[in-house]
Amino acid sequence: MERNLELKEKYSKQQMDQLIADLNRYSYEYYVLDSPTVTDSEYDQLYRLLQTIEKEHPQWIRPDSPTQRVGDTLLSGFAKVQHEKPMLSLENAFNEEELMEFDRRIRSLTSRPIQYHVELKIDGLAVSLKYEEGQFVQAATRGDGTIGEDITANVKTIQAIPLRLQKPQSIEVRGEIYMPKASFKLLNEMQEEKGQNIFANPRNAAAGTLRNLDPKVTAARKLNVFLYASPTLDEQDFSQYELLSELKKLGFRINPERAVYDTMAEVLKYIEKYTAKRHELPYEIDGIVIKVNDSKAQEEIGYTVKAPRWAIAYKFPAEVAKTRIVQVEWTVGRTGVVTPTAVMEPVFLAGSTVARASLHNVDLMKARDIRIGDYVYIHKAGDIIPEVIRVDLEDRSIHSRPYTFPVACPVCGSELVHMEDEVALRCVNPNCPAQLRERMIHFASRDAMNIDTLGESRVNQLYKANLVKGITDLYHLKQHDLMTLDRMGEKSSEKLLEAIEASKHNSLERLLFGLGIRHVGASTAKLLAAEFKTMDRIAAATVEDIMTIEGIGAIIAESIVAFFQMQETKQLLHELKQVHVNMTMIDRFSDLHEHQADSPFHELTVVLTGKLEHFTRKELKARLEALGAKVTGSVSSQTDLVIAGAKAGNKLDKAQELGVEIWNEEQALQHLPKE
Ligand code: IVH
Repeated sequence: MERNLELKEKYSKQQMDQLIADLNRYSYEYYVLDSPTVTDSEYDQLYRLLQTIEKEHPQWIRPDSPTQRVGDTLLSGFAKVQHEKPMLSLENAFNEEELMEFDRRIRSLTSRPIQYHVELKIDGLAVSLKYEEGQFVQAATRGDGTIGEDITANVKTIQAIPLRLQKPQSIEVRGEIYMPKASFKLLNEMQEEKGQNIFANPRNAAAGTLRNLDPKVTAARKLNVFLYASPTLDEQDFSQYELLSELKKLGFRINPERAVYDTMAEVLKYIEKYTAKRHELPYEIDGIVIKVNDSKAQEEIGYTVKAPRWAIAYKFPAEVAKTRIVQVEWTVGRTGVVTPTAVMEPVFLAGSTVARASLHNVDLMKARDIRIGDYVYIHKAGDIIPEVIRVDLEDRSIHSRPYTFPVACPVCGSELVHMEDEVALRCVNPNCPAQLRERMIHFASRDAMNIDTLGESRVNQLYKANLVKGITDLYHLKQHDLMTLDRMGEKSSEKLLEAIEASKHNSLERLLFGLGIRHVGASTAKLLAAEFKTMDRIAAATVEDIMTIEGIGAIIAESIVAFFQMQETKQLLHELKQVHVNMTMIDRFSDLHEHQADSPFHELTVVLTGKLEHFTRKELKARLEALGAKVTGSVSSQTDLVIAGAKAGNKLDKAQELGVEIWNEEQALQHLPKE
């Protein structure tokens, strides 16, 4: 932050350029190298500063600014793009024999010594990225290999893709865009919760996400990328190993699990290793790609029309197990969607024993005609979520009857509704205890109010013992009540009460997220808190007010406004205020100043006046607040300090009149911490 103070202009273009360079480096360290050097809150603070500068000087906005990743406008479609060189595909091998055959063929096509470069086959979508003089200009899908689609706006939202390279080079690179297993799981859980269709696997989810017409949706779904080829660098005789190292040097994310071997026997060992290890990786792989490493040898071996002859994809066998459905359980989620789960005879599948599988929703169950007692084939979607693929009809008992779907909520008994535009059944009773319970679990969860030890099982216990109904009841819990619960002694009950008490002092964004407003995830909650600062202001905001925030569109804004209009919300906020739950944004920038109390500004009431040279008032205000000062608009007997710039008028007069301490900007600067 020192740069802000040293520059003589209030915001120079260079200052902003430096800020962009820093933010892009932090992103690179976080997303590409996986080793961040700044905290999230420091990043957020600098990002907001950049937004402020860009708002003041829109003519300075650069295409590689991190604020340019997510566009505001909806896309109308995807233009066609002709690839300069065709995007080839790979020949497949399904077993050792086919790999040995590949090895023989390779060695017969060249007399050069052969080394194999082995890589993971990422299960996503091939993409081509183009850079002109180091600047990212276009992303395209593979399409039919000759003509693809322009997906630049959506690809830009992927943080691991550099908007500017380390060198001003013109280059095309190719790789795989994929959805990490964790994002896939979260996305399907959210789809289920919304009563919407689920995605079959991360590849489909990534494809749907890249073809979404709203880049904001793409940004929210957290795709990632590994680059593995470059038609431009191919002209420079790099081996595959060197090529990937070169891509890495340029700032691209490459997969680290690669190796070079002299023999197919070693390649087979690598395959064996990753066949076992694949389930532990955070992304799905569907095989191993084996490439001849040396570029001269590649040229000699050559290409077919569809694929290089010098490479092959070993595909893992599909992992499927057969078992029997013994029961179907229905659970009610936070928003009332009722989800069926198959309880099955336990079976080993893709690295673990599986006894339950989501059946997702009533429509899917009907389409697959799933019945209790059926033998079914299951697999793991995205390598993690056990799923029923199909029923083995030959093994179906002649006594089998179609499944009878529930008509009443399994928890509160109210009638279930099948909404027109949804695939799920829904319990629409807002006071259904199951929904209240799920909301409490969400409220207490780590990214929300972060109430330590109040997880799913504790919340269940509290409900069973009738100690709570709604969220506010948490703040009225008494130790003697808690101690009547199983596994709850003096120490653990004290700990829980302390954690509940501590949650009252959380910053606004945690509470906002914890309320479980539809479409408001942790990051939207952060944006709202940063913009409005207090719950009351958010509650009073209009759809238009909310939509002025970059990153929040109409659907989210409408959902927020509707939430705050509900009587239940008003009541809940009123109750939470009464028990003193904090409803203001606590600036996380203050995290950075561990020695805040040492600052002369700590707990001072400060007024800024006149024209400042080194800052805008807004910026200085933010800095002072981060140091624990309260910055107000008018001078009174409560004012401790006035910082006066050039041409200060009435406020300066008043300060002199009241005998309030007055500093000029230089004095203030000297007291701001240098980092
Ligand atoms: S090389 C000319 N390397 O697999 C070489 N492809 O089945 C073309 N894929 O279309 C591809 N991981 O989408 C290569 N490490 C990797 C890969 C990979 C995934 C995909 C790619 C390709 C498909 C072929």
